[in-house]
Amino acid sequence: MTVTSKADRLAIDGGTPVRDGPFATWPVWDETDEQAVLEVLRSGKWGSHATTGKVAEFAEKFAAFQDAKHGVALTNGTAALEVALRAVGIAPLDEVIIPPYTFVATATAVLALGAIPVFCDIREDTFLIDAADAERKVTPRTKAIIAVHVAGQPCDLDAVLAVAKRHNLKVIEDAAQAHGGAWKGTKVGALGDAGTFSFQSSKNVNAGEGGMVVTNDAELAERAWSIVNVGRVRDGSWYQHELMGWNLRLTEIQGALLLAQLARLPEQYERREHNALFLDWELGQIPGLRPQARDERVTGHAHHLYMARYDASQFGGKDRAWFQKAMQAEGIPVSPGYTTPLYRMNAVINERRKWAELARAAGREVTCAATPEEEVCPVAERACGGEGVWLGQVTLLGDERDMVDIVTAAAKVQKAAARG
Ligand SMILES: Cc1ncc(COP(=O)(O)O)c(C=O)c1O
Repeated sequence: MTVTSKADRLAIDGGTPVRDGPFATWPVWDETDEQAVLEVLRSGKWGSHATTGKVAEFAEKFAAFQDAKHGVALTNGTAALEVALRAVGIAPLDEVIIPPYTFVATATAVLALGAIPVFCDIREDTFLIDAADAERKVTPRTKAIIAVHVAGQPCDLDAVLAVAKRHNLKVIEDAAQAHGGAWKGTKVGALGDAGTFSFQSSKNVNAGEGGMVVTNDAELAERAWSIVNVGRVRDGSWYQHELMGWNLRLTEIQGALLLAQLARLPEQYERREHNALFLDWELGQIPGLRPQARDERVTGHAHHLYMARYDASQFGGKDRAWFQKAMQAEGIPVSPGYTTPLYRMNAVINERRKWAELARAAGREVTCAATPEEEVCPVAERACGGEGVWLGQVTLLGDERDMVDIVTAAAKVQKAAARG
């Protein structure tokens, strides 16, 4: 007979939770942000300008922060991907290789251009793009790879760039989650042809909404700037439109907020890093939890998410949904993260089918699986289906006590589950 002490009894079974208080809250702001926003409000200059003002200043500062020569600020990370794809020359029916374990925007940005997302698997240890599988998916129609830095950890850029070089492909880094992420000493974004960021509410730098394209290529930056500014050219006249473009500009109020938020990033980055390293070590000791492996060439991890792999067999066969409920009952905000590989999402299936039918009608070959089963990526399937577990970046802004509570709760849940 097993004797369970009161302290061992899980909160989900009526025991006392490990914690009952909240974690850190988000966003973080103070009078600096208030003043910055008020200053713009009172100036009456709310719209952004190409070279002066808060948005222009932020674009320059953020690009420099990410070790990129050029930055073009715009409305959000989804639009940033579309603009980057257009700026590198992706055209209708071109194929773009992407991982399926990412936010839907990585795929829909491709589809918005009438191009075709082709899926490659992720790596078991890092949850990030598997460059070897990406290479297997290359066809004569492939034009680009989107390397997504999920959770804020740079993917294996050496491997992705090598594949791109062998097949003459463009590389777009989807760095929506990777503010401050770095690969071998250089921040991410402009290590490929172009990179994109998001400043949406949950992101590590945020103004409610916002995005950026960064690059080291001056011509590409000009094209991106033009697309964001209804096809204008910087030195052209107001009604001169040379490219297909949109009005994707940010407001100066967003620019002011972004500058204030960016100033806070280095301290927050350090705190997340410190706490994540503690969790890596401590959670790594718990049977059935395997934190996202960190490639030694990664010199900056933004920790937008803290990810681990859940192995139900070490938890008495109890599935991830049970683990999530048990952890939440203990006061720890665990989430399952992405639960659907993108090739199983109707938004992607239906839109891609539409372009593929057009291609076939025009007698052009296209890569488009008839059913998701035909393009299953087994590692991503498992990550989505029951292995991935996440904590958000806000949780990592806590103190040592918070991190100890996370570990205590996970150990308690695992022991109880394994005991049965
Ligand atoms: C990996 C990834 N790509 C793209 C985006 C899109 O960014 P946004 O929400 O700013 O459009 C996000 C944001 O959620 C993301 O996480």
